[in-house]
Amino acid sequence: DRHLLGLRNLSAAEISAILDRAAYWEEHPVKVSNLCRDRFVANMFFENSTRTRFSFEVAEKRLGAEVLNFSAAVSSVQKGESIYDTVKTLESMGIDAGIIRLKPSGVLPELAAKIKVPLINAGDGNNEHPTQALLDLYTMRKHFGHLQGLTVSIIGDIKHSRVARSNLWALRTLGASVKFCAPDNMQAPELAEYAPYVSIDEALRADVVMMLRVQLERHESGMITSAEAYREHYGLTEERAGRLQPHALIMHPAPVNRGVEIDDSVVEHPQSRIFEQIANGVPIRMAVIERALT
Ligand code: CP
Repeated sequence: DRHLLGLRNLSAAEISAILDRAAYWEEHPVKVSNLCRDRFVANMFFENSTRTRFSFEVAEKRLGAEVLNFSAAVSSVQKGESIYDTVKTLESMGIDAGIIRLKPSGVLPELAAKIKVPLINAGDGNNEHPTQALLDLYTMRKHFGHLQGLTVSIIGDIKHSRVARSNLWALRTLGASVKFCAPDNMQAPELAEYAPYVSIDEALRADVVMMLRVQLERHESGMITSAEAYREHYGLTEERAGRLQPHALIMHPAPVNRGVEIDDSVVEHPQSRIFEQIANGVPIRMAVIERALT
């Protein structure tokens, strides 16, 4: 299966092969290879993005592919065209693979079943964001040398987070353990059997502390208490960052709400890997596109 819809059903060997291939690309920093020359890749974003969209585009260009960029906001989606008809339209023009980001959860498997070219999930609702978790795992593996036995705390808006879900599945597959920390209205009770919900003090006792963005756009109005109260109870403040073990990593998928889930001064803390995560997105996405196309 050359689609990449999620990590929940990917084996340890398949995940490790992607991480290894990304390491190859990082060690061979050729600006542009011709591995995917003459192949057309469409970036189909039905929801906004900065990091994922541009790092896919950089990865595609570094592999020598021809890149097509589709944004729902300036497309016939605005006239009511469906996701399926849009993807089928681009497939009819001869694309070889599609990168897709969608608002709804759960529609991707059905779409992929009807589309012949490989599709790579760039984030679907609160379901999965596989390439984000792969770059997160890659960043952890680079620092610790392994993933087996690591303890990873994921703190914040678990309920709305596809990043939390993809990391949960892949980390468990690779032998790491996950703890969640979230206020009641940001918990996903259906995930409690896979990762315990712990206090913020317990969450800080981990090898990796992954902060999540409070997803204001996905909350019904009135659900969020003030940003100050959130920071006080769940934010990675300068004081809390000072209590982390010296070997521990601070991560965040970004975009960051500075001063809400993470203090401004902690974003570029010596233990933070936030901008390294973004850099690692390019070799990871090169590996994933290569897997889809070759
Ligand atoms: N981390 C992430 O997915 O960021 P974008 O929404 O900007 O792509």
